[in-house]
Amino acid sequence: MQVYEEIKREDDDHRYDDLKMEEKKIKNDHVVVLLWKKWIKTNCLALTINMLTTGIILTVIYFIVIAPLRQKLADIDMRLTAIEKQNGTKLRESENGESTNLDTHTTCYNGGISKKTNNECICVCTKGFLGKQCEYSGGKDTSFMVIFQEGISCFPTTPKILVASENTTRLSIRYFNENKIHTITMDKSNTEYNLSKSVLPSDGIHVAGVELHSDKGINVYGFSFGTEVSEGYSSMPTRFASTKYIIPTLPAFYIYKNMIALTPCYQNTVVSINLKLKSGSVTYDNKQYSNNDTIRIMVNKYDTFQLSTTSDLSGTMVTSSKPVIVVSGNQCNFAVPDNIRLVVVIHL
Ligand SMILES: *[C@@H]1O[C@H](CO)[C@@H](O)[C@H](O)[C@H]1NC(C)=O
Ligand SMILES: *[C@@H]1O[C@H](CO)[C@@H](O)[C@H](O)[C@H]1NC(C)=O
Ligand SMILES: *[C@@H]1O[C@H](CO)[C@@H](O)[C@H](O)[C@H]1NC(C)=O
Ligand SMILES: *[C@@H]1O[C@H](CO)[C@@H](O)[C@H](O)[C@H]1NC(C)=O
Repeated sequence: MQVYEEIKREDDDHRYDDLKMEEKKIKNDHVVVLLWKKWIKTNCLALTINMLTTGIILTVIYFIVIAPLRQKLADIDMRLTAIEKQNGTKLRESENGESTNLDTHTTCYNGGISKKTNNECICVCTKGFLGKQCEYSGGKDTSFMVIFQEGISCFPTTPKILVASENTTRLSIRYFNENKIHTITMDKSNTEYNLSKSVLPSDGIHVAGVELHSDKGINVYGFSFGTEVSEGYSSMPTRFASTKYIIPTLPAFYIYKNMIALTPCYQNTVVSINLKLKSGSVTYDNKQYSNNDTIRIMVNKYDTFQLSTTSDLSGTMVTSSKPVIVVSGNQCNFAVPDNIRLVVVIHL
C-alpha cells in the first residue's frame, strides 16, 4: 500500500510537471502569436498607407501631367490629320516608316544618334565623343604614330610613352627603324614605357619614331624624361592626322632652337612647309630658306622630318598631299614656368 501510494504520488507529480510544461509552452506560443499579429498589423498598415499614397500620387500625376498631355497629343494628331487632308501630303511617317530612317545595324554609343546620309548610316556623336560608333572619348583611340624632337645634348633624356587606359591594354610597338613588333601590357599601375633613343630625330629626314596599336581605346603621351628637363605632349590618333597645320611655337630662350617634326601616315607624301620666320633662316639640304620661303620634301611612311631654327616659327604652315602627324616646340623657353617645350600644333 505504501508502495502504491508512493507510486501514485510520483505519478501525480509527473502529471503536474507535464501540465506546468504545457502551460509554459502555450504561454510562449501566445507571445509569439501576439508578436506576429503586431508585426502583421504594423506592416499591413504601412503597406496600406504606402499603396494609398502611391495611388494618390499616381492619380495626381495622371490628372496634372498625363491627362492634359494626352489631350494635347490628340489635338495635335487631329490638326495634323486636317492639314494632311487639306494639303494632300503625308506629314507623319507611319509607325513602321520611322525605323527606315535608323539603321538598326549601326549602334551608336554614349548617346550618339544614327543618321542616314546617301545610303550610308553614320553616328552623330554627342559632345566629347569620337569614333564611328561614338565609342571613344577624349582623343582615345587604338592607333598612334609617336614622334619626338631632338633634346638638348647636355641633358640626356629618356624618350617614353605614357599610356592612359581604363583597363589592361595590350600594346604593340613598332620602332620606325626596326621591322619587329614589341608587345607590352599596360594597366592603371603600369603606365610608362621607356623607348630606345633611336626615336629622337635630328634635322633632316631620319627614320625615328614609333607606331603603336592597342586592343582598347587609350590616350598616349610622347614624353622625354630628363632629370633637369622633362616634357610631354598628347599624341593625336593616326585617324585624326590632317593635311594642313599651323605651327604655334613659344619663343625659345637665348640660343635654344625652335623645331618642327613630322611623319607621314602613307608612302610618297609631298609636304610643303611655308616658313614664317621673325629673323634668320632655316638650312635644309645645304640650302637656306628665309621668311615666306617654302621647303618641299617627299617623305615615306616611317620617315621623320625635323627642322630647327633660333627664330620663332609661329604661323608656319604645313600642308601635305596625304595626312601627316606634326609636332612643334622648342628646346627651352621661359614663356611658362614649367618650360613647356613641345606644344600641340593647331590642326586644321
Ligand atoms: C501645304 O503645303 C505647302 C507646300 O507643300 C506649304 O507651303 C503650306 O504651308 C502647307 N500648308 C499647311 C497648312 O501646312
Ligand atoms: C573595362 O572593363 C570593364 C569590365 O570588364 C568594362 O565594363 C568596361 O567597359 C571596360 N572599359 C573599356 C574602356 O574598355
Ligand atoms: C626608364 O628610364 C628611367 C629614366 O632613365 C629609369 O630611371 C628607369 O629605370 C627606366 N625603366 C626601365 C624599366 O628601364
Ligand atoms: C609670301 O609669298 C607669297 C607667294 O609665295 C606671296 O604671294 C606673298 O605676298 C608673300 N608674303 C610676304 C609677306 O612676303
